[in-house]
Amino acid sequence: MRLDAILSRFGYCSRREAAQWIKRGRVSVGGVPAKSPSAKAAPEDVLVDGAPVEFPGGLYVALHKPLGCTCSHREEGELVYDLLPQRWMERADGVSTVGRLDKETSGLLLLTDDGSFVHALTSPKRHVPKVYEFDCAATIPPEAVELFASGELMLHGETTPCLPAELEILGERSGRLTLHEGRYHQVRRMLAAVGAPVLRLERTAIGPLKLESLNLAPGEWVAIDPAIFA
Ligand code: URA
Repeated sequence: MRLDAILSRFGYCSRREAAQWIKRGRVSVGGVPAKSPSAKAAPEDVLVDGAPVEFPGGLYVALHKPLGCTCSHREEGELVYDLLPQRWMERADGVSTVGRLDKETSGLLLLTDDGSFVHALTSPKRHVPKVYEFDCAATIPPEAVELFASGELMLHGETTPCLPAELEILGERSGRLTLHEGRYHQVRRMLAAVGAPVLRLERTAIGPLKLESLNLAPGEWVAIDPAIFA
Protein backbone atom coordinates (compact mmCIF):
# COMPACT_ATOMS: atom_id res chain seq x y z
CA MET A 1 0.00 0.00 0.00
CA ARG A 2 1.10 3.59 -0.55
CA LEU A 3 2.23 5.36 2.62
CA ASP A 4 -0.36 8.12 2.27
CA ALA A 5 -3.07 5.46 1.92
CA ILE A 6 -1.78 3.67 5.04
CA LEU A 7 -1.81 6.84 7.13
CA SER A 8 -5.35 7.69 6.11
CA ARG A 9 -6.72 4.13 6.25
CA PHE A 10 -5.55 3.65 9.84
CA GLY A 11 -6.80 7.02 11.03
CA TYR A 12 -3.61 9.06 11.37
CA CYS A 13 -4.29 11.88 8.90
CA SER A 14 -5.76 12.56 5.48
CA ARG A 15 -3.88 11.51 2.35
CA ARG A 16 -3.21 15.17 1.69
CA GLU A 17 -1.71 15.71 5.19
CA ALA A 18 0.42 12.59 4.81
CA ALA A 19 2.91 14.47 2.63
CA GLN A 20 3.53 16.92 5.48
CA TRP A 21 3.88 14.14 8.07
CA ILE A 22 6.45 12.42 5.87
CA LYS A 23 8.32 15.67 5.17
CA ARG A 24 8.58 16.30 8.90
CA GLY A 25 10.18 12.88 9.40
CA ARG A 26 7.29 11.39 11.40
CA VAL A 27 7.07 8.24 9.28
CA SER A 28 9.65 5.50 8.82
CA VAL A 29 9.68 2.13 7.10
CA GLY A 30 11.91 -0.65 8.39
CA GLY A 31 13.88 1.93 10.42
CA VAL A 32 14.53 4.25 7.45
CA PRO A 33 12.77 7.66 7.35
CA ALA A 34 10.20 7.72 4.57
CA LYS A 35 10.68 10.19 1.74
CA SER A 36 7.61 10.02 -0.44
CA PRO A 37 3.87 9.58 0.17
CA SER A 38 3.69 7.37 -2.91
CA ALA A 39 6.32 4.90 -1.63
CA LYS A 40 4.84 1.46 -0.97
CA ALA A 41 5.13 -0.54 2.25
CA ALA A 42 3.34 -3.18 4.26
CA PRO A 43 1.40 -1.45 7.10
CA GLU A 44 3.14 -3.80 9.60
CA ASP A 45 6.54 -2.27 8.67
CA VAL A 46 5.52 1.37 9.14
CA LEU A 47 6.28 3.43 12.26
CA VAL A 48 4.52 6.72 12.92
CA ASP A 49 6.21 8.95 15.50
CA GLY A 50 8.28 5.91 16.42
CA ALA A 51 5.29 3.61 17.13
CA PRO A 52 3.97 0.82 14.89
CA VAL A 53 0.76 1.47 12.96
CA GLU A 54 -2.04 0.36 15.27
CA PHE A 55 -3.95 -2.85 14.51
CA PRO A 56 -2.84 -3.23 10.87
CA GLY A 57 -4.60 -6.61 10.72
CA GLY A 58 -7.90 -5.38 12.19
CA LEU A 59 -8.96 -3.83 15.48
CA TYR A 60 -10.30 -6.21 18.15
CA VAL A 61 -10.70 -4.77 21.63
CA ALA A 62 -12.43 -5.74 24.88
CA LEU A 63 -13.77 -2.84 26.95
CA HIS A 64 -15.02 -2.95 30.52
CA LYS A 65 -18.08 -0.83 29.85
CA PRO A 66 -18.97 1.36 32.82
CA LEU A 67 -22.53 2.22 33.77
CA GLY A 68 -23.99 5.36 32.22
CA CYS A 69 -22.51 5.36 28.71
CA THR A 70 -24.33 4.44 25.52
CA CYS A 71 -23.34 2.02 22.72
CA SER A 72 -24.10 4.50 19.96
CA HIS A 73 -22.20 6.84 17.67
CA ARG A 74 -24.90 9.48 17.73
CA GLU A 75 -26.83 9.78 21.00
CA GLU A 76 -26.58 12.55 23.56
CA GLY A 77 -24.49 12.03 26.70
CA GLU A 78 -21.44 9.88 27.24
CA LEU A 79 -20.74 7.25 24.57
CA VAL A 80 -18.57 4.13 24.80
CA TYR A 81 -16.54 5.59 21.92
CA ASP A 82 -15.52 8.53 24.15
CA LEU A 83 -13.53 6.01 26.21
CA LEU A 84 -11.36 5.01 23.23
CA PRO A 85 -8.56 6.80 21.34
CA GLN A 86 -10.05 9.25 18.84
CA ARG A 87 -7.76 7.93 16.08
CA TRP A 88 -9.68 4.65 16.01
CA MET A 89 -12.81 6.52 14.95
CA GLU A 90 -10.92 7.92 11.94
CA ARG A 91 -10.05 4.45 10.58
CA ALA A 92 -11.46 3.80 7.13
CA ASP A 93 -13.49 0.78 8.26
CA GLY A 94 -15.01 2.52 11.30
CA VAL A 95 -15.16 0.96 14.75
CA SER A 96 -18.38 -0.43 16.15
CA THR A 97 -19.52 -2.43 19.15
CA VAL A 98 -20.22 -6.15 18.79
CA GLY A 99 -23.88 -6.03 19.80
CA ARG A 100 -24.90 -3.57 22.49
CA LEU A 101 -25.23 -3.22 26.22
CA ASP A 102 -27.86 -0.90 27.70
CA LYS A 103 -26.74 2.41 29.13
CA GLU A 104 -27.36 1.03 32.63
CA THR A 105 -25.59 -2.31 32.02
CA SER A 106 -21.87 -2.66 32.73
CA GLY A 107 -19.37 -5.33 31.75
CA LEU A 108 -17.66 -6.98 28.82
CA LEU A 109 -18.14 -5.25 25.47
CA LEU A 110 -16.19 -6.02 22.29
CA LEU A 111 -15.35 -3.45 19.63
CA THR A 112 -13.98 -4.03 16.17
CA ASP A 113 -13.59 -2.66 12.65
CA ASP A 114 -14.29 -6.13 11.20
CA GLY A 115 -17.89 -6.58 10.07
CA SER A 116 -17.58 -10.34 9.68
CA PHE A 117 -16.42 -10.61 13.30
CA VAL A 118 -19.52 -8.70 14.42
CA HIS A 119 -21.68 -11.06 12.42
CA ALA A 120 -19.96 -14.19 13.72
CA LEU A 121 -20.46 -13.16 17.34
CA THR A 122 -23.98 -11.80 17.12
CA SER A 123 -25.64 -14.25 14.74
CA PRO A 124 -28.16 -16.38 16.65
CA LYS A 125 -27.09 -19.26 14.37
CA ARG A 126 -23.65 -19.26 15.94
CA HIS A 127 -25.07 -19.43 19.49
CA VAL A 128 -22.04 -17.75 21.12
CA PRO A 129 -22.97 -17.80 24.81
CA LYS A 130 -23.12 -14.49 26.68
CA VAL A 131 -23.15 -14.57 30.46
CA TYR A 132 -24.86 -11.95 32.63
CA GLU A 133 -24.94 -11.53 36.41
CA PHE A 134 -27.70 -9.56 38.01
CA ASP A 135 -29.53 -8.47 41.15
CA CYS A 136 -33.30 -8.22 41.20
CA ALA A 137 -35.85 -6.20 43.13
CA ALA A 138 -37.80 -9.34 44.12
CA THR A 139 -37.25 -13.04 44.75
CA ILE A 140 -36.38 -15.01 41.62
CA PRO A 141 -38.97 -17.81 41.38
CA PRO A 142 -37.23 -21.22 41.19
CA GLU A 143 -39.60 -22.23 38.32
CA ALA A 144 -37.83 -19.64 36.15
CA VAL A 145 -34.91 -22.07 35.75
CA GLU A 146 -37.08 -24.57 33.90
CA LEU A 147 -39.06 -21.96 32.00
CA PHE A 148 -35.91 -20.25 30.66
CA ALA A 149 -34.38 -23.62 29.72
CA SER A 150 -37.54 -24.74 27.90
CA GLY A 151 -37.20 -22.53 24.85
CA GLU A 152 -40.89 -21.66 25.32
CA LEU A 153 -40.70 -18.27 27.00
CA MET A 154 -42.45 -15.78 24.76
CA LEU A 155 -41.61 -12.16 25.51
CA HIS A 156 -44.18 -9.43 25.09
CA GLY A 157 -44.33 -8.20 21.48
CA GLU A 158 -42.21 -11.05 20.06
CA THR A 159 -43.30 -13.69 17.57
CA THR A 160 -40.77 -16.41 18.43
CA PRO A 161 -39.93 -17.77 21.87
CA CYS A 162 -36.52 -17.18 23.44
CA LEU A 163 -33.88 -19.81 22.74
CA PRO A 164 -33.19 -22.05 25.75
CA ALA A 165 -31.15 -20.12 28.32
CA GLU A 166 -29.41 -21.28 31.49
CA LEU A 167 -30.41 -19.56 34.71
CA GLU A 168 -28.45 -20.14 37.92
CA ILE A 169 -29.97 -18.74 41.07
CA LEU A 170 -27.07 -17.45 43.18
CA GLY A 171 -29.10 -15.87 46.00
CA GLU A 172 -32.74 -15.04 46.68
CA ARG A 173 -32.48 -11.95 44.47
CA SER A 174 -29.35 -12.55 42.44
CA GLY A 175 -28.42 -14.85 39.60
CA ARG A 176 -26.48 -15.62 36.47
CA LEU A 177 -28.08 -16.06 33.04
CA THR A 178 -26.40 -17.47 29.93
CA LEU A 179 -28.01 -16.45 26.64
CA HIS A 180 -27.34 -17.73 23.12
CA GLU A 181 -28.95 -14.82 21.30
CA GLY A 182 -29.26 -11.10 21.87
CA ARG A 183 -32.70 -9.53 21.83
CA TYR A 184 -33.50 -6.01 22.90
CA HIS A 185 -33.22 -5.70 26.73
CA GLN A 186 -33.43 -9.48 26.82
CA VAL A 187 -32.18 -10.18 30.34
CA ARG A 188 -34.32 -7.45 31.88
CA ARG A 189 -37.40 -8.58 29.94
CA MET A 190 -36.95 -12.26 30.79
CA LEU A 191 -36.64 -11.52 34.51
CA ALA A 192 -39.49 -9.02 34.44
CA ALA A 193 -41.61 -11.77 32.85
CA VAL A 194 -41.16 -13.89 36.00
CA GLY A 195 -41.82 -10.99 38.38
CA ALA A 196 -38.21 -10.19 39.29
CA PRO A 197 -37.26 -6.81 37.77
CA VAL A 198 -33.51 -6.35 37.34
CA LEU A 199 -31.78 -3.67 39.45
CA ARG A 200 -28.14 -4.33 38.49
CA LEU A 201 -26.87 -6.04 35.34
CA GLU A 202 -23.36 -6.89 34.25
CA ARG A 203 -22.09 -8.99 31.33
CA THR A 204 -19.31 -11.18 32.65
CA ALA A 205 -18.37 -13.34 29.64
CA ILE A 206 -18.71 -13.73 25.87
CA GLY A 207 -17.87 -17.25 24.70
CA PRO A 208 -14.50 -18.19 26.20
CA LEU A 209 -13.60 -14.60 27.13
CA LYS A 210 -14.22 -13.72 30.79
CA LEU A 211 -14.22 -10.14 32.06
CA GLU A 212 -12.58 -11.24 35.31
CA SER A 213 -9.54 -12.67 33.51
CA LEU A 214 -8.89 -9.35 31.74
CA ASN A 215 -8.33 -7.34 34.95
CA LEU A 216 -9.87 -4.19 33.52
CA ALA A 217 -11.25 -1.40 35.70
CA PRO A 218 -14.49 0.14 34.36
CA GLY A 219 -13.59 2.28 31.33
CA GLU A 220 -10.38 0.36 30.55
CA TRP A 221 -9.81 -1.67 27.37
CA VAL A 222 -7.33 -4.21 26.04
CA ALA A 223 -6.59 -5.64 22.59
CA ILE A 224 -7.70 -9.25 22.17
CA ASP A 225 -6.91 -12.05 19.75
CA PRO A 226 -10.06 -12.75 17.68
CA ALA A 227 -8.85 -16.33 17.13
CA ILE A 228 -10.11 -17.27 20.61
CA PHE A 229 -13.65 -17.15 19.18
CA ALA A 230 -12.86 -19.34 16.17
N1 URA B 1 -29.96 -7.81 28.31
C1 URA B 1 -30.39 -6.64 28.80
O1 URA B 1 -31.49 -6.53 29.29
N2 URA B 1 -29.55 -5.59 28.73
C2 URA B 1 -28.31 -5.65 28.24
O2 URA B 1 -27.59 -4.65 28.23
C3 URA B 1 -27.88 -6.89 27.73
C4 URA B 1 -28.72 -7.96 27.78
